[in-house]
Amino acid sequence: MTRRTTLAILISGNGSNLQAIIDAIEAGHLNAEITAVVSSDPEAYGLIRATRHHLPSQVMDARDYTNRSEYDEALQHYLERINPDYIVLAGFMRILTSEFIDAFEHRILNIHPSLLPAYKGLNTYQRALDNGETQHGVSIHLVTAELDAGPIILQASYDIETGENVEDLQQKGHRLEHRMYPQVLSWLSDNSLTINQGQIYYEKALLEQPIRFDY
Ligand code: GRF
Repeated sequence: MTRRTTLAILISGNGSNLQAIIDAIEAGHLNAEITAVVSSDPEAYGLIRATRHHLPSQVMDARDYTNRSEYDEALQHYLERINPDYIVLAGFMRILTSEFIDAFEHRILNIHPSLLPAYKGLNTYQRALDNGETQHGVSIHLVTAELDAGPIILQASYDIETGENVEDLQQKGHRLEHRMYPQVLSWLSDNSLTINQGQIYYEKALLEQPIRFDY
């Protein structure tokens, strides 16, 4: 078996994406190893998931640090020691400093509940509903210093039906997210997807637009 791709997964809450990645690894669909789960919230349910699967976890509570740079420096030092191939943001509710992002350039991935570049930031479902959108979606992208603006790797869209609410959209989104993150990580682990100087290549061809997730 080829070397397993190592992942640090950063969470703040439920950790259902973490769970989907764990399940993909345990089912043999993803040749990876989670070498750290870091939570910014000591109460995050994702920490229980990590413990249940015997994964090393670490709480980094913002209340223990005086400011954002101090927090990010500590996080950086922790992750540098572990030195994962990729840092996977999975519901990590913090904006990272550009120093942190530079330290792990082109190795940080994020999943965002919208069809980026539309609806960057928070409350994407509510904002899409308020605007009367008929479609919404999920994007997985490389993290760069600008929030939710790094190159998009994989995107899926779904219809918003009349009368649907935030919970309905969240459910549709999550169902897709849980298939999409393992898919992208598995492409990275088998080198179908490579990142070179911030450029993304899929099956050796430069990715000029996001891959559409067909489902
Ligand atoms: C996901 O919806 C993801 O798109 C967003 O945060 C949420 C995390 O959910 N970035 P979970 O903690 O993985 O269940």
